[in-house]
Amino acid sequence: MATANDHPDARSTSLQTSSVELFDHQWATYRAVLDSDLMGHRAITAATADALTSHLAQRSAAAAAPQMVDLGCGDLALLAPVLRQLPLGSYRGLDLTAAVLPLAQEALGNVGYRCDWQQADLLSWALESPANGAIDILHSCFAIHHLNGDQKQTFLRHARAKMAEGSLFLWADVFREPGESRDHYVNRYAERIRRHWPLNPERQEQIISHLSQFDHPADRDAIVAAAEATGWHWHWLWHGPHQAEALALLTPA
Ligand SMILES: C[S@@+](CC[C@H](N)C(=O)[O-])C[C@H]1O[C@@H](n2cnc3c(N)ncnc32)[C@H](O)[C@@H]1O
Repeated sequence: MATANDHPDARSTSLQTSSVELFDHQWATYRAVLDSDLMGHRAITAATADALTSHLAQRSAAAAAPQMVDLGCGDLALLAPVLRQLPLGSYRGLDLTAAVLPLAQEALGNVGYRCDWQQADLLSWALESPANGAIDILHSCFAIHHLNGDQKQTFLRHARAKMAEGSLFLWADVFREPGESRDHYVNRYAERIRRHWPLNPERQEQIISHLSQFDHPADRDAIVAAAEATGWHWHWLWHGPHQAEALALLTPA
């Protein structure tokens, strides 16, 4: 006998419900990581704010208000207070996960510049949006490591073509030590989580499972060479204490 759940509409509603629950569960775990500052978000946010402030102070008063794009913006839990202070011309928050965009919009609130929100893959954005040299500030925090090595180089080449003269790209992420294999990185990060992260074992294993499947942190030296080969100048702004999290400032060479 058919039940209500056998109806196609009911099935799709129940699938949507379970993916919403899955998102809520995973995002709650990520928020627990942020709340305990386990990946250096506070230091990264402070260094990002400093870099943005000094960049904006050096801009000519006659220059048009800057256009900013944020790739993998998430819910803007930490960055929103920084963004609210910036004299931007526009801000675009882009994320693969549609569910974070209304959270980001709410966190940012009303600001005196145009905002738009785009559900998209950041590599597709790099490949498909116009290479018109119009971006003044590109930002990405803990998202680009989802691309593999070749994709990162493709991303860097195509993103470079979108940057305005005198622009900057702030890239916070996890990176491997020079010469370190991905397996070695995954094992030591998993060890760090199990030994030192004050989360229950279910949350710890959820994060380890995610990073084992999806994270492809760049080799620190190799990514500098790849960036320089695609027209960027690279400068490290901050390194976390675990040979993983770091923030780099890239400018057009
Ligand atoms: C670890 S969270 C970081 C969120 C925020 N930037 C922060 O630092 O708190 C990674 C974010 O990147 C997004 N993301 C992952 N892969 C992506 C991709 N290929 N394109 C765009 N966004 C992506 C995820 O949906 C998620 O919101």
